[in-house]
Amino acid sequence: MIKQAIIPLAGLGTRLLPLTSIFAKELLPINGKPGIEYILDECINAGIKEIIFIISTKKLMIKKYFYSDQLYRSIIKKNKDPRIINEYKKILKYKKKIKFVYQNIPKGTGDAVFKTKKYITNKYFLMLLPDDLIIKKNCSKALIKVHEKHKASVMASMKVKKRSVSRWGIYKLKKKINKRDFVIDGVVEKPSIKNAPSNSAVIGRYILPRKIFKKLKFLKPNKGNEIHITDAIQLLINDKEKFIAHNFEGKYLDCGTMNGYINSSKVIEKL
Ligand code: G1P
Repeated sequence: MIKQAIIPLAGLGTRLLPLTSIFAKELLPINGKPGIEYILDECINAGIKEIIFIISTKKLMIKKYFYSDQLYRSIIKKNKDPRIINEYKKILKYKKKIKFVYQNIPKGTGDAVFKTKKYITNKYFLMLLPDDLIIKKNCSKALIKVHEKHKASVMASMKVKKRSVSRWGIYKLKKKINKRDFVIDGVVEKPSIKNAPSNSAVIGRYILPRKIFKKLKFLKPNKGNEIHITDAIQLLINDKEKFIAHNFEGKYLDCGTMNGYINSSKVIEKL
C-alpha cells in the first residue's frame, strides 16, 4: 500500500516572476484556492496518510500557512463565521498529515527527494510535483492502482508536441501493456528534439521505490547543474527495476509557467 507522499516545494519559482519574488508559488490562488490544496486533496483522496513537504527557509511561508491556529481561533471566537470555521477545519486536517524537511540550496528534484530518506518507511512512495495540476480524475489514485497490479514503479505520462520535448523528461518505450500503460526502457531529462527517444513526457506524479535513495546518494548534478530524479530513475532501470508509464485520464494544467498559471484558473472556473 502507498501511504506516504512527498512534495518538493523548495524551488524558486523563477518562471512565475514577479508573482514569486516574495511569495511562494504553491500558495498562489488558482480560482480562489491555493495551488497546494489541490495537490493535498488529490493525495488524501488517494488514501495517503503522511505527506512530507520539502521546503526551504526562504519558503517558510508555506509552513506558516498551516500553523496560523491563533489567527483562526481568535477570529472564530469573535464571530462564528461558518466559512472561516470550515476553512480552519480543513487546514487542521491537512496539518495533521504534513511533516516538513528542508532543502535550503535548490540543487534539483533528485536532491529534494534525497532529503526525505530517513522519513520514508515503506518500500514505495508517491511524489507529486506541485506545478502540475491534474484535474477531473485523481491521477495519484490511478497510479497507485497500476502499482498494486504490477508491483512496479509508475510515472504519469502524456504525449507532448515534438517541438516541446526539451521542456520535459522524455521516455523511451519498451513494451505496451495496455491502452494506457507502457513498460519503459529509459528516460532522459529535457532532451533536444534530435535526441528525444519519443514524444511521451513524464508529468509530475511518480511512484518510486525506496531503493532510489541508494542511487541519489552518489548522483552528480547534470543538466542545468541540478540533480535530477530522472537520472536516478535511469540508473534503476539499468539495474532492471520495472518502471511503467501510465497515460493518465485527467486534464493536465501546467501551473509552473505564467501562461499556464493564468489559464488554470479559467479552466477550473468553468468546471
Ligand atoms: C520536472 C521533471 C521533468 C518532468 C516535469 C513535469 O521538470 O524534471 O522530468 O517532465 O517536471 O512537469 P521541471 O518542471 O521541474 O522543469
